[in-house]
Amino acid sequence: MAAFKTLDDIGDVRGKRVLVRVDLNVPMQDGSVSDTTRLQAMVPTVSELADKGAIVLLLSHFGRPKGAKNPSQSLSLVIDAVADVLGRSVMFVSDCAGEGARAGLTVLAPGDVAVLENTRFHAGEEKNDPALVAAMAELGDVYVNDAFSAAHRAHASTEGLAHVLPAFAGRAMEAELKALDAALGNPTRPVAAIVGGAKVSSKIDVLRHLVGQVDHLVIGGGMANTFLAARGIDVGKSLCEHDLLETANAIFDAADKAGCTIHLPYDVVVAKEFRANPPVRTVNVHEVAADEMILDVGPAAVEALSDVLKNCRTLVWNGPLGAFETPPFDTATVALARTAAALTREGSLVSVAGGGDTVAALNQAGAAGDFTFVSTAGGAFLEWMEGRELPGVAALMR
Ligand code: 3PG
Repeated sequence: MAAFKTLDDIGDVRGKRVLVRVDLNVPMQDGSVSDTTRLQAMVPTVSELADKGAIVLLLSHFGRPKGAKNPSQSLSLVIDAVADVLGRSVMFVSDCAGEGARAGLTVLAPGDVAVLENTRFHAGEEKNDPALVAAMAELGDVYVNDAFSAAHRAHASTEGLAHVLPAFAGRAMEAELKALDAALGNPTRPVAAIVGGAKVSSKIDVLRHLVGQVDHLVIGGGMANTFLAARGIDVGKSLCEHDLLETANAIFDAADKAGCTIHLPYDVVVAKEFRANPPVRTVNVHEVAADEMILDVGPAAVEALSDVLKNCRTLVWNGPLGAFETPPFDTATVALARTAAALTREGSLVSVAGGGDTVAALNQAGAAGDFTFVSTAGGAFLEWMEGRELPGVAALMR
């Protein structure tokens, strides 16, 4: 991994204005933040800087307002939650650039923390407009990026600022980059990847990249059905992208050439209806009836996959193995997550997970806390799994 500077290199920040890009794009329910994971992720960086006497200015987007000021996407809505999680008072500044921002900053003293208004209220944010970059840069002396989950965006606050101010990775970004490097950049082998989720179409590039990187690729979720169908198996009424059978075959070929073993389930849990606790059967994949759908990986396959993990030293996990929100189709995901957690606890496996549903699935299994690293990123994690350069990260490396 190329080198990047961290808070260890930032020097004396007392009295300096530090612009910290965080990800305050948090889910809301009935006017309050319903999941504070991303807020917790920024605590080490913000506390460290504030304790060292910096004036900490938090920059973030919130939703996709597309350059228009929309009160329902104002970051003033998350101020209380930010203050709660940080355990210190937090001010709100009604703009992130220009006169409104400058005026708001005059009252801040060393050690203070402020949240600046949604960067996406400016059309220049998503365009990475140099004029907006300059206007934001004018507010600070130093730039810290602590938002890996927004690093796949080449925006003014995620990428542009790193070119015009001294730029450093925050503690969460640093931890994320080190964990990802240990998982795919420079991993201890053998390496396994588990990729689940509903559709192959959303993860084709992930699968294509992984077959060249890992020793074992476990395909689960709805996407496994497409691969089973490509092998000539009748998957009945299961979710299956029949137009992608050639793509699936090309991925099998690429895996063969790269020496990567693809693991598909050989027993599955099927039902005639997709609802909670319907009558189910556990069958060999060759025995799925025309009116049944595959909703989870079966117990024999889970046992075989556990053995694969026991022989691996590194695991990257994205996506559940079954329809895990609907019981009992969380069984395989929960069982394999617990195995991975136990192997990590014993010290035989480095386990990194991330992306959308994955964190929820690992939490449901009570396994997230034992994983080596669980990323709070959705889209950025997937782009990293596709082997793509993330602009926000690349800018820190320069
Ligand atoms: C996310 O929620 O994944 C990040 O905050 C990025 O948000 P975006 O997809 O709107 O850029």
